[in-house]
Amino acid sequence: MSVVDGHTADRTRKRPVDRTTLHRVWHALLAVIVLAIATLCYFFPVLLAVLGGLALLLGCARLIYRGRDRYIPNLYARDTRVYEDEYRGFIRQTMESLRRCKTRDHVLLREAAQLPPPSREDPEELLLDLGVWIGWSTRLAADASGRQVYGFDTFEGLVEDWQVDDQLVIKRGTFSLTEPLAQRFIADTGVTLQDGLPPALGRKVEFIKGMTYDTLAPFLAERPDAPITLFHMDLDTYESCLHALETCKDRFVEGSVLVFDEYLVTNGEMRAFYEFQRKYGLQWRYRAWGLEIWEMNVEMVTSRWKRFAYYLILITGYWSLGDGRYVWAFFDKRFWRFWLGAPLGDIAFMLGAAGQRKSVSLEITGLGALGADGR
Ligand SMILES: C[S@@+](CC[C@H](N)C(=O)[O-])C[C@H]1O[C@@H](n2cnc3c(N)ncnc32)[C@H](O)[C@@H]1O
Repeated sequence: MSVVDGHTADRTRKRPVDRTTLHRVWHALLAVIVLAIATLCYFFPVLLAVLGGLALLLGCARLIYRGRDRYIPNLYARDTRVYEDEYRGFIRQTMESLRRCKTRDHVLLREAAQLPPPSREDPEELLLDLGVWIGWSTRLAADASGRQVYGFDTFEGLVEDWQVDDQLVIKRGTFSLTEPLAQRFIADTGVTLQDGLPPALGRKVEFIKGMTYDTLAPFLAERPDAPITLFHMDLDTYESCLHALETCKDRFVEGSVLVFDEYLVTNGEMRAFYEFQRKYGLQWRYRAWGLEIWEMNVEMVTSRWKRFAYYLILITGYWSLGDGRYVWAFFDKRFWRFWLGAPLGDIAFMLGAAGQRKSVSLEITGLGALGADGR
């Protein structure tokens, strides 16, 4: 385990956290598209009749469609009926709760900004960012909270293959800082690696290099009794997530906020948390459902014109090749699951962002077997 870049400039003041320009650009483009269609309808009323007919057909098909709520945004992938009843019930209740706490922001930055000042009794409250890539999630969480944040990563990529529901497998080693994508963002966001590790860039952050399987327990042992205030999980895989939850379990307290970047992958972080809370009889409440954090790397591109080019590339890529393509790719079953099965609120929520809304936060409200009596 090696620790780098700690204790640089002492930035304890909170800084603005809104990093959603990408989506505002998308909203502007969407408005232009809607305006263009409205204009066409004005000049060619037959188009209005066609669109009206399609909307009517869609409404009728939605009434008879039997797959409602079996598929989860934004993936509309694995049919949740493959899971045992109890887990399916958990997923159903989760989606019901999340629909009441949608947010347009990045969940991590929102939660970091809302943290209260550190309490006098626990000056060593911990803010952990697990899975940091080139370091921006850690730095921005430090900016938003005005507190010290610890970032953990191998900086050599995933340590196990990541099976994303029944979709693709993202191979071990992906997200290594030697990859061309990482190199490009390192250059474009003004990060200069030091001995292969990202710098703090004046933020109050420490990066801890190594697999969390090796680094997390010794890190906590060096800070006995320090409670975890913010736990950001972006290690992606089920195995790493469950291991981190188990390793940190004695440091969770009532009020600890846990943010899962890829929560809506039902065989990954959600499954890990489900098993964890079940094992210890935890009580918690969902707080927010919104944007995952990776995309804010684009907001950190230093050149304004380059940043704008990135916005356009990301928006186009998302709707043409990314998960956004299910909005139009009628030959794919996920198109039908989206338009026929998703609640109208989800449809609006998904169309309103040119990116993934899979990030979820929750707050521990009761420790169950992890409490003073159970430990
Ligand atoms: C999706 S990226 C994190 C993105 C980052 N939070 C951001 O917003 O830019 C996932 C990261 O987790 C790291 N990772 C995955 N499993 C790990 C483990 N068990 N220990 C340490 N790092 C791990 C990978 O190296 C990768 O950088």
